[in-house]
Amino acid sequence: MNVHPKANGAYRYRRARALSYFISDGEIVVFNFLTNRSFACNARCLDVLMQSEDWRPLEDLFAMTEEHRTSSLVEEIAQLFSLTALVVEGDLIATKDTEYADTWEWGSVTAQLHFSSQDNLTVSDQMAAEIQILRAKDQPSPQLIRHGDPKDGVALPPFRMDSELKAVMRTRRTIRAFLDHPVELPPIADALYAGLGVTGIVSTEIGDHPLRMTPSPGARNAFEAYIFARNVPGLAENKFYHYAAYEHRLEPVDSDDPLPSMDAMFAENQPWVKKASLLVFLVAHFERVMWKYINGSAYAHVFVEAGHIAQNMMLILSEHGLVVNPAGAISHSLIERAIGENELTHSVVYALAVGYPDREDDSVSWLAPEFKIRDELLAMIRDQKFQG
Ligand SMILES: Cc1cc2nc3c(=O)[nH]c(=O)nc-3n(C[C@H](O)[C@H](O)[C@H](O)COP(=O)(O)O)c2cc1C
Repeated sequence: MNVHPKANGAYRYRRARALSYFISDGEIVVFNFLTNRSFACNARCLDVLMQSEDWRPLEDLFAMTEEHRTSSLVEEIAQLFSLTALVVEGDLIATKDTEYADTWEWGSVTAQLHFSSQDNLTVSDQMAAEIQILRAKDQPSPQLIRHGDPKDGVALPPFRMDSELKAVMRTRRTIRAFLDHPVELPPIADALYAGLGVTGIVSTEIGDHPLRMTPSPGARNAFEAYIFARNVPGLAENKFYHYAAYEHRLEPVDSDDPLPSMDAMFAENQPWVKKASLLVFLVAHFERVMWKYINGSAYAHVFVEAGHIAQNMMLILSEHGLVVNPAGAISHSLIERAIGENELTHSVVYALAVGYPDREDDSVSWLAPEFKIRDELLAMIRDQKFQG
């Protein structure tokens, strides 16, 4: 039976585990990377934190303040709680903090990077453009490509557009203007399969490793995929589904919480996403990789895996005449709550907004020549293929 700590007559507290410390402007700054709160901490507060390693009854803190007989220490201790440097046993923050201590095996540096980048507001497209224009006045952007010497080295034969695969690869583009058209299940099924479908199993003394069309660090298969169906015949409207990769099935995700809107799932000011026919979310299960790789450098490999999966999905969707807006600027907690991926080591890292392109839209019409090449090429290649 779960007994609330209060039932024993005493609340207990301890120092949060998710803290990092650094010196800035001559002050010691303490940062809780799970709650994203930081504050300057004086020597006395640090002393309180040092003495709060394990759960202690709150009376110990009262005793400490009585000893010093200063009201400022009382205020400082209250601050330590409100800034989540000290946590109270059994409350939500302490529970998350304990989950962090128990499950995050990649150390506090990787944790700080990961958790402090969750749900962080990004600037809107327009603001980002303005910031870049301002910045470029004093400090031009670094070169985005390293030019070679045309007289040096070996000139490579030109890229030959001689297969459907190459034509699809060549004409993939991020498109942010969608037609309000349904997307049928077959291209979605193909895309999910190309990203995460199980094409084989390798059995070792450790267990079975699913193999896919996409590589995975240590064959740890870090990802699960979910889709949010807005306009997909055969699926409920505005509903999340989990892709059960082994069975190649979509399972409805049931939730009592109200559904977030599509544009809320993407970080601020990406309104075009509302017209996408579906969204795909890639959710990392870090513990699968941690289990094998105890070094935090494996954290980066998980994100590389997401890129492989997403690219395969995008190419398949492109082949079907669909377009995709890949997005990293997403509302992590909102999505994770909606799909029930609440474990601390589970994290949505990438989203794809999918639909048919609105070729009349200003943001797409400049791509008309690209679409023309693509359509002609695909028609030609398919024609040749079907004629043998
Ligand atoms: C990791 C990653 C994150 C991205 N995040 C966003 C995003 O949040 N919103 C968006 O509109 N585009 C996003 N993009 C798309 C890029 O803006 C786009 O790929 C880039 O402008 C180049 O255009 P292209 O994809 O047509 O080649 C992202 C792309 C990548 C690879």
